[in-house]
Amino acid sequence: MQRIIGPFTQILPLADMPLKGSVSDDALHIIPNGGVLVENGLIAGTGDFETLRKDRPKAEIEEIAGSQVLLPGFVDCHTHICFAGDRAKDYAMRIAGKSYLEIAKAGGGIWDSVTQTRQASETELVGLLKNRITRHLAEGVTTIEVKSGYGLNVEQELKQLRAVKQADQLSRADLVPTCLAAHIKPKDFTGPASAYLEYILNDLLPKVKNEGLARRIDIFIEDSAFNIDDAGHYLRAAKQMGFDITVHADQFTTGGSSVAVEVGAASADHLEASTDKEIKGLAASDTVAVALPGASLGLGIGFAPARKLLDAGACLAIASDWNPGSAPMGDLLLQASVLGAYEKLTTAETFAGLTYRAAKALNLIDRGSLQKGMLADMQAYSCADYREILYNQGKLKPARLWKNGSQLITDR
Ligand code: NIG
Ligand code: FE
Repeated sequence: MQRIIGPFTQILPLADMPLKGSVSDDALHIIPNGGVLVENGLIAGTGDFETLRKDRPKAEIEEIAGSQVLLPGFVDCHTHICFAGDRAKDYAMRIAGKSYLEIAKAGGGIWDSVTQTRQASETELVGLLKNRITRHLAEGVTTIEVKSGYGLNVEQELKQLRAVKQADQLSRADLVPTCLAAHIKPKDFTGPASAYLEYILNDLLPKVKNEGLARRIDIFIEDSAFNIDDAGHYLRAAKQMGFDITVHADQFTTGGSSVAVEVGAASADHLEASTDKEIKGLAASDTVAVALPGASLGLGIGFAPARKLLDAGACLAIASDWNPGSAPMGDLLLQASVLGAYEKLTTAETFAGLTYRAAKALNLIDRGSLQKGMLADMQAYSCADYREILYNQGKLKPARLWKNGSQLITDR
């Protein structure tokens, strides 16, 4: 059965827009008084609402009252929302001026979240995930990447990934799991970092693959985590096993993004420390550059050079990095709005980074724009002009939201 949803004051289809580089707002190709034709959870077309209705007299009508602006659902291509506990103590120390080392010495940092997450059962993690997914859906996010990385041994990483799989089945959002067993070398592993990575390659990744728990892997390349040589070896071996690659790169020091480009990673994420050299490398590659403004806000550090990346020709996505340590807020639209204000991004660039460019970071070709054949993942804001969305800096939430064509949030 075909259904026409509308009329919307404006539809921003974000279709036929450039995959890489800067984008002006003229490229948005706004449809005024628009309608969307939906069939079997997919978009069958978009256009003028009255024309669609006249052309298809038998189609069911889902009437939209008042001024509403329609966008594709957001794709959050980088989160760590499978965690237990919190790190409010870390945050208090950080805003009081304590260093990374002082916080780690006081028992904080990633290892604290590993300890707290190891103590939680799989069922508890599913419950925590479901709450965070519900919040993300209410804020317009219909596809969510979720990393492991707070287990850091075979049994605990599998527990995290199984929780993500369950939560995916139980929730309306689509979850994209990523194995981040290479987050840091766990404190209880004896041996060098290279031996830990070998252990992950030999003992964990085959199980992840056989159980269908994740098709992508991630590594944190940084002085406090894994070095470039060990990471290069790990990533090439994982690629050989058939995994897609993403990298935590250039957060505090450079080097990670070059490895990401070299191994053909789908994305290189963070990039706060990237210089002109790294920007050039990313722009010349097919690796999506992912800015994580939530981590900059959580740590009180500068943003990734989003404007420079776009001007150089890179594909820029924007994700929340929602995690208990560096990015506890998790409000993707708020973070993207603030990034845009500081980095001088056009509305088109910010929306591209939250939708079809973020889908590219996850190698998903079926979402991120409103055009024929795409999933009917959509959100509508109560306003007459699309510019009001970023203007409200995250305080305007979607009034309606559809996943695979069915309405989950109605007239809020
Ligand atoms: O993306 N940089 C490394 N990993 C996370 C932080 C995770 C944590 O602090 O628990 C990040 O910011
Ligand atoms: Fe992260």
